[in-house]
Amino acid sequence: MMIVVTGLAAPVWAQNAPEPRTLPNGKTWTYDADAGRDIMRTCAACHGEFGEGGGGGVYPRLSGLHPEYIAEQLRAFKSRTRENIPMIPYANERELPEKDVLDVAYYLASITPPRHPPADDVAMDAFERLKLAKQAVQIPRQPGDVEAGKALFNADCMECHGRDGQGRVKKPPLAQQHMPYLHTQVGLFLSGAREHDDVDELMRPKSARNWEDLWAYVSTLDD
Ligand code: HEC
Ligand code: HEC
Repeated sequence: MMIVVTGLAAPVWAQNAPEPRTLPNGKTWTYDADAGRDIMRTCAACHGEFGEGGGGGVYPRLSGLHPEYIAEQLRAFKSRTRENIPMIPYANERELPEKDVLDVAYYLASITPPRHPPADDVAMDAFERLKLAKQAVQIPRQPGDVEAGKALFNADCMECHGRDGQGRVKKPPLAQQHMPYLHTQVGLFLSGAREHDDVDELMRPKSARNWEDLWAYVSTLDD
């Protein structure tokens, strides 16, 4: 059983401890949650103490993402197949060997970000309240036509990103992810700087109005 640091149920993929595996250096990796928490200290300046995201939404939420997705992106940063200039000092073989990639990925995956800070009338100790408030990721409603956005989402995005936008194995969530970050990623997909399936069919034909409606709907998915 992995450590679940909130009172909420962890996503299915985080409920069982990962199988040990053989690292490129021939050693065996077994999940070490304390090591994951330690590594996260260097990431916290940008991504927040619990991976809740930061910088007004420029730095993505990492908590609750699929561990294999997180690991895959970290490897992509290390090999520069996904360009991420702010992370160059952190995502390299010396600072983040494969063992650390796996520990931090599974640690982050085990944190389920609450959708709201705890309500005032819920009894809990002050420390727990503060922790849950910090972990909470609540996306502000975006302007636009939510129904029109839902139709676009269901037609073009749901298959991979999930009915409720919570993501699937190796497919990141769109729900409960920070809007400035999502906007940037679509810009990168459209310019070809980051790869996404079927950009010419799924993304390029959409008007500014379509995008506004789509994000308006996505912003309701964590209500
Ligand atoms: C100096 C700021 C900074 C630090 C420190 C940092 N990151 Fe990042 N990280 C970013 C930025 C900026 C992005 C988004 C890049 C982009 O726009 O594509 C990002 C993106 C990511 C993503 C991709 C998320 C997704 O949804 O695709 C992962 C995973 C990630 N960081 C993990 C980490 C981990 C683990 C650490 C610590 C070892 C770390 N980051 C440290 C700035 C930082
Ligand atoms: C065929 C499957 C598929 C479909 C359909 C799809 N996506 Fe994706 N999407 C992915 C995968 C896989 C990734 C992760 C790419 C990677 O590994 O770098 C992704 C990543 C993203 C990201 C970046 C998220 C992050 O955390 O970095 C955004 C934003 C996104 N997709 C938006 C959309 C939108 C909007 C639609 C519908 C118009 C859509 N996608 C449809 C598979 C899909």
